[in-house]
Amino acid sequence: MAAAQELSVRFRKAGPADVDLVIELLHELIIELGPPDNAAQVLPQLSKDIHLALAADNVCIFLVESEGKAIGLSRGDILTTDPIFRLRTDNRCGYVDQMYVRPTYRNQGLGRQLLHLVENWFSEQGIGHALLHAAQNALRFYSTEGYVPNREMFKRL
Ligand SMILES: CC(C)(COP(=O)(O)OP(=O)(O)OC[C@H]1O[C@@H](n2cnc3c(N)ncnc32)[C@H](O)[C@@H]1OP(=O)(O)O)[C@@H](O)C(=O)NCCC(=O)NCCS
Repeated sequence: MAAAQELSVRFRKAGPADVDLVIELLHELIIELGPPDNAAQVLPQLSKDIHLALAADNVCIFLVESEGKAIGLSRGDILTTDPIFRLRTDNRCGYVDQMYVRPTYRNQGLGRQLLHLVENWFSEQGIGHALLHAAQNALRFYSTEGYVPNREMFKRL
């Protein structure tokens, strides 16, 4: 692991020119999270999804770089159709997705800063809630950040 005090990092919003970088990082994330059948289904969709995301007003992707090399990312989508929020005055909700830090750079606070960038972006857009689906290995990370389970259950049909 790179030592925290040696690590000089820069955070920035990704733009359309970053499409290949974003896809490369997400490819690693999808393979790591698995399972292989899910990865096989998702990977072919990735390029189209990221091209659309980088051009969309309701999506923001943040990158973290060290020595000019991208080492992690986070993504926020503003949802307007989540059923939990549809009857509220503010029916929009922020969805946190695609959080990834390359393994050798983990446990140094980069993931937390990437998450805060997404949350701050939501707040700037007037969004009052954030929602996410946590990978099993990231449950503690998100709960430390104040995310709580909210009745949702999931079944593969
Ligand atoms: C989840 C993920 C993005 C977190 O990234 P990260 O950079 O390691 O995150 P942080 O360093 O901010 O926090 C991770 C842990 O390190 C700890 N930590 C933070 N700074 C630290 C430091 N300076 N020294 C030691 N530990 C530290 C945090 O307390 C946190 O512990 P926790 O798990 O008990 O909450 C990363 O583990 C990852 O990419 N995982 C694989 C993909 C994945 O699961 N993504 C989420 C999909 S929902």
